[in-house]
Amino acid sequence: MEAKEHKDPKIRVEDLVMIFGRQPRREALPMLKEGVAKDEILARTGHVVGVSNASFTVQEGEIFVVMGLSGSGKSTLIRCVNRLIEPTSGHVYIDGEDVLQVDKQRLRQIRRTKMAMVFQHFALLPHKTVWENVAYGLKIRGVSEQERRSRALESLDLVGLKPWADRHPANLSGGMKQRVGLARALAMDADILLMDEAFGALDPLIRRQMQNELLQLQDTLQKTVLFITHDLNEALRVGNHVAIMKDGEIVQIGTPVEIITEPATNYVAAFVQDVDQSRVLTAEVVMKPADVLVLGRDAVQTAVNRMKAKDAASHFYVVNEQKQIEGLLSRHRILRDGKADNKDKDLSRYLDREYPSTHPGASLTELYALVAHGVPVAVIDASGRLMGTVHASDVLSSLATIEEIGGQADEEQATGIVTGNVRENGSNGNGAQQKRKDTVETT
Ligand SMILES: Nc1ncnc2c1ncn2[C@@H]1O[C@H](COP(=O)(O)OP(=O)(O)O)[C@@H](O)[C@H]1O
Ligand SMILES: [Mg+2]
Repeated sequence: MEAKEHKDPKIRVEDLVMIFGRQPRREALPMLKEGVAKDEILARTGHVVGVSNASFTVQEGEIFVVMGLSGSGKSTLIRCVNRLIEPTSGHVYIDGEDVLQVDKQRLRQIRRTKMAMVFQHFALLPHKTVWENVAYGLKIRGVSEQERRSRALESLDLVGLKPWADRHPANLSGGMKQRVGLARALAMDADILLMDEAFGALDPLIRRQMQNELLQLQDTLQKTVLFITHDLNEALRVGNHVAIMKDGEIVQIGTPVEIITEPATNYVAAFVQDVDQSRVLTAEVVMKPADVLVLGRDAVQTAVNRMKAKDAASHFYVVNEQKQIEGLLSRHRILRDGKADNKDKDLSRYLDREYPSTHPGASLTELYALVAHGVPVAVIDASGRLMGTVHASDVLSSLATIEEIGGQADEEQATGIVTGNVRENGSNGNGAQQKRKDTVETT
């Protein structure tokens, strides 16, 4: 049991099972619990295991991604969370309350206040204006027209579509329609957004743009987002945590960096090798805390002594009280010109004003060029503060990890351990599974 003072996670899913068929609890569920494989359960009972013993937690304000190929159980899982599908067994806690145990009335209330869903094929009502489409769910709830319009405009503004409020959907591009879907969910003012392949139908460029917008929105709105995708690049890009699903099971949960650097199974490793990893392994990820000297506070003798220490770095960044860089101090220069008994606090005359620096999002490729001169690269945030430094060795070891994973997965693929077509991360790899109509859910 968790200690009381800890906040409940926003969403906690425990041992969730969803089996499709006539009497899932009679034979199929016991078989699943005994560890019988999904295929065998299908063959022997005619029941389809959609989700098998899924457990995970989502903290408030994070984007939790469920990633897997078509048919791996993602939609089933997300639909169990808001009980569009009744799970066969397990628990789904929202703010500590098991939504699988509540009555219809309470469920409606939970859905209304806590969860909003964004689908891939968001059905816009063609004869209604954009704002009316956004406000549709509010109308069903009996919200007054005036408030509906003001809330619709507010959320259209968030997704950059306010000027289109009085137009009709036919005037919108695919990307814009998807934004309307997002605006509709935002207008509901729910804490949790459930996004099922919401960007799946968009072409790659627009899709990237939508991912960026989601991340930007998230900075200010701090929703809890359960985000489903079949695209690993997308998953690693938007997720704070990523769960990888295969055949109804979650095979790994981790941060994007953990998924890439420590894939739990061969299956995940095979996926990961197709990903542009330099995009995930950014300066912010590979940097180390910087050992700094503070201008006006640390004396010359402090600098000399630190440089003389065993294993001392070849350079120290010298910062001001605001952690902004004043310059770079090299061992060579301070040991040559500085004196160990010098209590003077003016380090500025020993400083180099030119030094390599970069932003936290810089890719490994960018870093590779910067570290080549043997000077630690300063990673600087938007306010000019030093966040950390990257040494050549940090970049090389990250690259080595990538090589290792790639090589390992190659081998396994060659020997046939990895089955199935793991390479389904094109921009539109979701055929058959998406035929079901995802219509507006009216609560
Ligand atoms: N209503 C249903 N009846 C029977 N099987 C279903 C139903 N819905 C989904 N399934 C099966 O459950 C599995 C998971 O499907 P789904 O959750 O839609 O996967 P994904 O969203 O990852 O593509 C698939 O094998 C699918 O065929
Ligand atoms: Mg799906």
